[in-house]
Amino acid sequence: MTKEAQGDVFSFAPMEGITNVVFRNAHHAVFPGTQRYYTPFLGLNQNMNLQKKEWRDIDPENQLCVDGTAEVIPQVLTCHADQFLWAAQMLADRGYGEINLNTGCPAPTVVTRHKGAGLLEKPVELEILLDEIFDGIGRIHTGSGKEMRVSVKTRTGMKSHDEAEALMEVFDRYPFSEIIIHPRVREEYYKGKAHPEVFASCAGRTAKKLCYNGDIYTAENWRERKKQFPEVTAWMFGRGFVTDPALVRQIQGGKELEAGELLEFHDRILDGYLQMGTEDRNAMFRLFELWTYWRFHFQGADKCLKKLKKTKSLADYRARVNELFAEADFAPGFYDGLK
Ligand SMILES: Cc1cc2nc3c(=O)[nH]c(=O)nc-3n(C[C@H](O)[C@H](O)[C@H](O)COP(=O)(O)O)c2cc1C
Repeated sequence: MTKEAQGDVFSFAPMEGITNVVFRNAHHAVFPGTQRYYTPFLGLNQNMNLQKKEWRDIDPENQLCVDGTAEVIPQVLTCHADQFLWAAQMLADRGYGEINLNTGCPAPTVVTRHKGAGLLEKPVELEILLDEIFDGIGRIHTGSGKEMRVSVKTRTGMKSHDEAEALMEVFDRYPFSEIIIHPRVREEYYKGKAHPEVFASCAGRTAKKLCYNGDIYTAENWRERKKQFPEVTAWMFGRGFVTDPALVRQIQGGKELEAGELLEFHDRILDGYLQMGTEDRNAMFRLFELWTYWRFHFQGADKCLKKLKKTKSLADYRARVNELFAEADFAPGFYDGLK
């Protein structure tokens, strides 16, 4: 373990369609060392129910990565306190110790319903929601008798970073266990560059525990941020971590990604989907999405990758993957979000 990384907590970001239970279990099995995995958001509704795939994603029996070294933290998307508190109780009953509120999702269908980043538009309404959440949360206890922790994942505004200050003032008033800040406004989605300088100004406005999230694709990127924010001890990685699933290991002083382990990771994800009953084509589609990240390690193998994405049967798909790993030059690359 490097001295700089000692004591720091590393998290896999929630990513809808990617970091579900199959992915999380496979990641933890092949690349142990990540302390926290956030689930993609659970879309809460007035029926106080979840979709079948969401129930599966949080079923404690399926969480193979929860082995004393890693924790799974479910994230919820809602603008209603009663729904949030229902989820908090339901998750506490299933042994979870923390629930994370999404106030950052930029999707138009989410924002227009005042959820996700839509909550940032009206700080007064956000405050009413948080008042109700924290009024009720004290009644919800985990199996070990502790109060359920509430964390939030947010952005630095809807349209302008000028909003960040007022938003931090709101968040600072509540007993969040952690505030995860992705320093981009909603209108930026995930494009362009993140704004660490805005994270710095947020950090100056609260004594709460902050987690930094945004554009960390390499161990070097992380060292730069650690130097800039030595007091920050919690880090969340998304696209860079999907691309390089060994990122945390390297930050902690370990070796860089090897082809064999990426193949094992791939196979575990594919087999995990199939074992869960996912149809072949759908399992392949899941993997195609991952190849949009993993392609960075196979420079000059564009033709091979194109052929891979055109495969129609699972047998053909597996053959193409094995061909790619056998024949293409593997050189760990990194996600280039600016391309
Ligand atoms: C495909 C995709 C799905 C995402 N799904 C979620 C989600 O369910 N909940 C959430 O809070 N953020 C979600 N995010 C945002 C990520 O958690 C993260 O904040 C973002 O990718 C920036 O971090 P990065 O630069 O390390 O990738 C998603 C991002 C992407 C690209």
